[in-house]
Amino acid sequence: MSEIVLAGSGLVKRFGPTVALNGVDLAVGRAETVAIMGPSGSGKSTLLHCLAGIVRPDAGAVHLLGQRIDDLGERRRSALRRTRFGFVFQHGELLPELPAEENVALPLMLGGTARRAAVAAARTWFGPLGLAGMEGRRPGELSGGQAQRVAIARALATRPAVVFADEPTGALDQQTGHDTMRLLVEATRHNDASLVVVTHDPNVAAWCDRTVEVRDGRLLAPSGAA
Ligand SMILES: Nc1ncnc2c1ncn2[C@@H]1O[C@H](COP(=O)(O)OP(=O)(O)O)[C@@H](O)[C@H]1O
Ligand SMILES: [Mg+2]
Repeated sequence: MSEIVLAGSGLVKRFGPTVALNGVDLAVGRAETVAIMGPSGSGKSTLLHCLAGIVRPDAGAVHLLGQRIDDLGERRRSALRRTRFGFVFQHGELLPELPAEENVALPLMLGGTARRAAVAAARTWFGPLGLAGMEGRRPGELSGGQAQRVAIARALATRPAVVFADEPTGALDQQTGHDTMRLLVEATRHNDASLVVVTHDPNVAAWCDRTVEVRDGRLLAPSGAA
């Protein structure tokens, strides 16, 4: 593998009596795209949340570019999520009262970029993502697929090391979902970001460099391995 950007090792996470993760190792290379698949309740979201510093594992460690991040306090993990990671959620979660370009600019402004520069940078994402002319629309004036592309722009605008997406096309029809996922995979690769995406769709997983299967909080051995 190329340089390892993100590595979870020995990850364990319990919720009361439920063992959501039961010893998971997963390393993600630079600009590598990894699909996480598995049945409902198998631990996919928990794995993504641990890797992204949203949830603290009970055991194990997460390293970003060699630096341990899981044991940082909430403030520092929050800053890290804002600056080094991008997120695409199932329902986009754009702010409905802001035009699309300001939704994309917002994470840059939160990072200290002045408003005009942030909006100018945000606009550069619209053409490549097939959103030219949509800059001033509010989320309610966009189709579901367009809104998810705005969410992809928002996730990439801060030039994150890793983009996390949890069933990002779950709310779209199949064709729109495919188009959106292909854009997500291509855009993250093109921007030298790694992608960790939870999906139910084998076609989506096929566009990724690698698929890992989660069962009962563990990764299945990759096919072909002992
Ligand atoms: N915040 C939580 N509180 C209690 N149980 C949880 C919580 N999050 C997840 N779980 C449980 O952990 C297991 C794994 O959940 P999750 O990671 O969401 O699975 P998946 O994303 O694969 O559907 C499930 O049994 C789920 O009910
Ligand atoms: Mg889930």
